[in-house]
Amino acid sequence: MILDLIPESTRAAGLGALMKGAGAVSRVLPIPQPTLLVGAGASRRLGQAVAAFGHARVLIVTDQVIVRLGLLQGLSEALAEGGTAFAVFDEITPDAPIPLIERGIAAFREHDCDALVAVGGGSAIDAAKAIAVAIANPGRSLRALAGYYKGLRTPMPVYAVPTTAGTGSEVTVAAVIADPERHSKLVIVDTRLVPRMAALDPALMTGLPSAITAATGIDALTHAVEAFIGNWATAHTDALALAAVGLVFANLRTACHEGENLQARENMALASTWAGMAFTRANVGYVHAIAHQFGGLYHTPHGLANAIMLPHVLRFSLPAVTQRLARLARRAGLGEAGQGDKDLAQAFIEGVCALERDIGIPTTLAALREEDIPALARAALLEAHTGYPVPRYMTQAQCEAMIRAVLPQVGQAGQAGQAAQAGEAAGADGGAPGTRRRAGPKPSRKAASKAAGKAAGKAPGKVSSEAASKPASKAASKATGATPAKSTRSAAAAARKRTSV
Ligand SMILES: NC(=O)c1ccc[n+]([C@@H]2O[C@H](COP(=O)([O-])OP(=O)(O)OC[C@H]3O[C@@H](n4cnc5c(N)ncnc54)[C@H](O)[C@@H]3O)[C@@H](O)[C@H]2O)c1
Ligand SMILES: [Fe+2]
Repeated sequence: MILDLIPESTRAAGLGALMKGAGAVSRVLPIPQPTLLVGAGASRRLGQAVAAFGHARVLIVTDQVIVRLGLLQGLSEALAEGGTAFAVFDEITPDAPIPLIERGIAAFREHDCDALVAVGGGSAIDAAKAIAVAIANPGRSLRALAGYYKGLRTPMPVYAVPTTAGTGSEVTVAAVIADPERHSKLVIVDTRLVPRMAALDPALMTGLPSAITAATGIDALTHAVEAFIGNWATAHTDALALAAVGLVFANLRTACHEGENLQARENMALASTWAGMAFTRANVGYVHAIAHQFGGLYHTPHGLANAIMLPHVLRFSLPAVTQRLARLARRAGLGEAGQGDKDLAQAFIEGVCALERDIGIPTTLAALREEDIPALARAALLEAHTGYPVPRYMTQAQCEAMIRAVLPQVGQAGQAGQAAQAGEAAGADGGAPGTRRRAGPKPSRKAASKAAGKAAGKAPGKVSSEAASKPASKAASKATGATPAKSTRSAAAAARKRTSV
C-alpha cells in the first residue's frame, strides 16, 4: 500500500495539509437543513405535513420493535386523515445490511410509493436514505452508490422521525449501511440525502432502554466533541457543538435513569440533532474511525464503540486541543472556577469518564481479540487519514496501543458493562447481534396526544420550536459550515466507501 511507503512524519504533515485544504473547499458548499418539528406529538404533526405536501403513498421504513411499541400510531393516523396512503416496511435491523435494503427497494416499487418516512434509530433512517437514492438511480447497485455523490439523480424525498437520540441522521448528508460479505460498513454521502423534515418527538423515546439511551447519547456527544476539536470546525459548527455538549451533560444521566422524563428526552433529541448538524459540516475523527472497525468486524453497536474509545482518543488529542477541551469543560459545567485551560481540559476528560461510568458504559470491548488489533488499527488510520480532519496525527503503534487498552481484562471492566455487552451478543428483542436491550418502561402516549392535532406544515428551513431555533439561529449568522462531502476526490475513494459516520 502506497501509504506504507511514506515515512510517518511526512505523512503526518502531508495528510494534515491535504485535509485542511479539503476543509477550505468544504466550507463553501451549502447543506440543506430540514424543517424541525419538536416536542411531544411531533410525529403526528409530521404526518399531517407529509399529507399536506400531497404525497399519494409513502413507505414507512421502521423495525418491529417500533411497531410493537405502537410508536407509528400518531404518524399513521395523521397520514390516513390527510389522505396519504402508506405501506409499512418493518424489517430494519441494526446497521441495515445490503440485502435488507434491497427488500426495502422492492417494497417501495411494489407499493408505488412517492416518498419515504423513516421511523426509528439511525439504522432505519439510513436505510430509508439508501432506498431513496437507489430508487432514483436504478442502474447502480448499493455498493456502486457508496461514496460521495455517486447517484446522479436526486433521491426520493425522505422524512425522518428519530426514535433514538444519537446519530443525528435526521439532519446529516450520510447513509451508513452494512456490507455483510465484506464485513464492513458503507457510507453514501450526498447533500440531497438530508431529510426534508424531521420530527423530534420525545414521547416516542420514553421506552428506549437505558443501555441504548446511554450508548446513543454518547454517540451524540462524540459527534459534537469530534466536530469541535477537528480542523474543519467553524463558528457555526462550534455553536452547535457547544450547545449539544451542554445538553448531553445536563440531560443524559436523567434520560438513562428516568426514561419517562420528557424534558430530558427532548433535550437529548435536540443535542443529537445539533451535534448532527455540527459533524455533517465539520466531520468526525479517530473515535469514529476506530469505532467503525469494531462495528464492521464485531457488530458492536455504533454508540457503544464510540463510548469505549472516546476517553482514550481525548487523552491522546489533549496536547493539540487543550484550549478547545477547556471550552467544552466550561460549557459542560465541569472543573472549578479560576482553573486554567490545562486543568479544565483534564476535567473535561474526567467528566466524560464519570458520565460514562454513571450510565453503565463499559471500559473494555468484550469481543476484541489481540490478533485483530494490527488490522483494526490499520483500517482505522486509513479511514481517519483519508477522510477526517483530526487535530493530532496518530501512528500505527499509537493506534494499536490505544485499541489494546480496551482489551477485556479481568477486573478492568465494570460488572454492568460486561453484562451489557453479554446482552448485546445475544441480540435479544428482535435486534441484530451486537444490540443490547433490557426491559424499559412503556412509552407514554399521554403527552403525545395532548399535542396532537396541531398541524405542522412549516416551510422548509423553519424550526417549529423556539428552543430548537435558538442555538441554530445564533450560529447561522456566523455560518461558514459546509459538508465534508465536497472535498472528496482524493486518493481515498476506496477507503471512503468503507467509512461511515
Ligand atoms: N447517517 C448518519 O449520519 C449516522 C451517524 C451516526 C451513526 N449512524 C449509523 O446509525 C446506526 C445506529 O443507529 P442507532 O444508534 O440509532 O441505533 P439503531 O437504529 O441500530 O437502533 C438500536 C436499537 O434500538 C431500538 N430502538 C430504537 N428506537 C427505540 C425506541 N424508541 N424504543 C425502544 N427501542 C428502540 C431498535 O429497535 C434497535 O434494536 C449505525 O449503523 C451507525 O453507523 C449514521
Ligand atoms: Fe456516530
